[in-house]
Amino acid sequence: MTSKRVLVAYGSKHGATAGIADELGKTLRGDGFDTDVVSADAVSDVSGYDAVVLGGALYAGRWNGEATQCARRNAGQLRHRSVWLFSSGPVDSSAEQRDIPPVHGVARWMKRFDAQEHTTFGGALTAETPGRIARALVRRGKGGDFRNPERIQEWAHHIADELT
Ligand SMILES: Cc1cc2nc3c(=O)[nH]c(=O)nc-3n(C[C@H](O)[C@H](O)[C@H](O)COP(=O)(O)O)c2cc1C
Repeated sequence: MTSKRVLVAYGSKHGATAGIADELGKTLRGDGFDTDVVSADAVSDVSGYDAVVLGGALYAGRWNGEATQCARRNAGQLRHRSVWLFSSGPVDSSAEQRDIPPVHGVARWMKRFDAQEHTTFGGALTAETPGRIARALVRRGKGGDFRNPERIQEWAHHIADELT
């Protein structure tokens, strides 16, 4: 039997969400799925995949534009696949403490795709993050890397279980 094909697509401005997508991809591969990890702006056809995991960074309460455009561009096909969505993420421990629901725009995609599930992972904002606002936040002690590899791996295993 050939293994199921999974696409993990991400919309990431500064790399934190790309890192989460890589971890998801690695774990899904380890669980036996033929998995591609691709930037959301490069996704123009998902017909070759059994399942799609699409994630985006949150900026001012909105999903990253590339993730949103990917959802819009591929909406016709995504409606007919197993879809999981994720967001990244609070630069504090809140995502560890409770389930953070999707922002309004993402909740709409959840409905449209009849998606399986959404989760919010902690994000990252560090001294290496470019941008004036990011630098100012880090200077005020508001930064940090709140991505938790174990939680990311757990969610990937959960997706693998659902697909099996
Ligand atoms: C200007 C700015 C606005 C942000 N707005 C939000 C927000 O509304 N909600 C949230 O959870 N995180 C917010 N964050 C944190 C980012 O989502 C987090 O750093 C994320 O992991 C960045 O992902 P990326 O590196 O893939 O772009 C914001 C960060 C910056 C710099």
